[in-house]
Amino acid sequence: MSTLTRRHLLRRAALSATSATAAGTGLGATTTAAVVGTAGGCDDPDESAADPDTAAAPAGPLRFPPDFGWGAATSAYQIEGAAKEDGRGESVWDTFSRTPGRVRNGDTGDVAADHYHRWRDDLDLMRDLGLRSYRFSISWPRIQADGTGAPNQRGLDFYRRLVDGLHERGIAPMATLFHWDLPQALQDAGGWESRDVAHRFADYADAVFRALGDRVPVWLTINEPKTVVQNGYLSGHHAPGRQDPDAAYLVAHHLQLAHGLAVQALRAVGGAGRIGPAFNLHPCYPADDTPEAAAATRLYDGYENRLYLDSVLRGSYPQDVLADLGPDSRMVRGIRDGDLAVISAPVDLLAVQYYTPIYVTAGGGTVRRWPTSEADWQQIYPDGMYDILTRVTRDYGPIPLTVTENGLPTPDVLGADGTVDDAGRIDFLRDHLAAAHRAIGAGVPLESFHVWSLLDNFEWAEGYDQRWGLVYVDYPTQHRVLKRSAHWYRTVIARNGL
Ligand code: FCB
Repeated sequence: MSTLTRRHLLRRAALSATSATAAGTGLGATTTAAVVGTAGGCDDPDESAADPDTAAAPAGPLRFPPDFGWGAATSAYQIEGAAKEDGRGESVWDTFSRTPGRVRNGDTGDVAADHYHRWRDDLDLMRDLGLRSYRFSISWPRIQADGTGAPNQRGLDFYRRLVDGLHERGIAPMATLFHWDLPQALQDAGGWESRDVAHRFADYADAVFRALGDRVPVWLTINEPKTVVQNGYLSGHHAPGRQDPDAAYLVAHHLQLAHGLAVQALRAVGGAGRIGPAFNLHPCYPADDTPEAAAATRLYDGYENRLYLDSVLRGSYPQDVLADLGPDSRMVRGIRDGDLAVISAPVDLLAVQYYTPIYVTAGGGTVRRWPTSEADWQQIYPDGMYDILTRVTRDYGPIPLTVTENGLPTPDVLGADGTVDDAGRIDFLRDHLAAAHRAIGAGVPLESFHVWSLLDNFEWAEGYDQRWGLVYVDYPTQHRVLKRSAHWYRTVIARNGL
């Protein structure tokens, strides 16, 4: 990897998602061919900004397709708590959050939103909102305390109750197998730098598929491999807290391999559910109109998006990224014959998580163009949702898409009248949903949308400081309060549109 690229990626990682400072549809008939735009990820920001459809606030009702999957998302470590119950082992996030200076205020996920005990009430909340889909993650160390061996029945039972409870309430479960809580014992054995961990993941996935495969219609393999790479191994502000670029991209390869092995495991057990990866994709735009900025943007896009998309959907890693990493990099040396065939085992859908665009300068650095949220890595740019969804369909074909995360942290306060007025979240979601609606109109096969997040939760290195939920959690009492955005979202779902 060039020094320049490494420096900028490190800087980028510091700004990356979940970064920290603690240390009638109205859509008309559409086809894929209708999807248009600039090629190869170097999207021109001015193009969409100039489009009167995108510039204007949505006028009139925007109806989504019938059966659109209105949802919300969470992850195990961020909400469950019960860190030591029912045979759960330690994960890298237990270790990391208990290490002084790693997480703001020394917060940990030990209790979180106590969802492990309050899941029934939380499911009732989801039903009351009218959710049709709920994306959650399964905690690997609840299923295998040290990441290997026979599954822990008590762990499996928890998720079985959860899944059955969702079905009873008419909500489709969408289960993520890995949302960053690697068993600590596997980290001690090398973590994702070890190729063996990809095989351990496949064994874990196999155990979960055997237990729940008849009742989970959609599986997601690995949440945001890029964030593990960038935040866990480049900037080091996520577990396991490393700063080692050479290791980082070997980790990327093993995460991709783990994904492919899990897809194969589902097919092998004959699971009826559909399966795909969950990628946080960032539309990358040149910061100016120089050829140098265009070239730098192209490479940046390779690291941000194509590394993950191409390997799964085209069976190859992008040549520009491999060339930039260099033949002696641990990643390039770690790719074995047949790996890309495993990684590109056919998937049924692709989960897209969109939070922010990136603007790349001629020198390969980044600049900000739009106001940021409370999360300083997040520029608020709804058209980026349209750009990234249409780009995926344009470049990779009509694979079904689901948005599995999109949301905003706001400085929510529980008022004396018992309400939480998060108007900013409503504006954000309205604008991003309108952009998603436009993408559907342009031919993108988007089947569902999940707000991040259902509940306020443990926001990784930010601890409990940032509140991302539709539902306010009063942590001292664990009392839940529907924020104004939750009431708004319920109306959106009931109307099937904006
Ligand atoms: C994503 C993570 C999710 C949450 C949001 C804000 O990158 O997948 O767990 O932290 O960011």
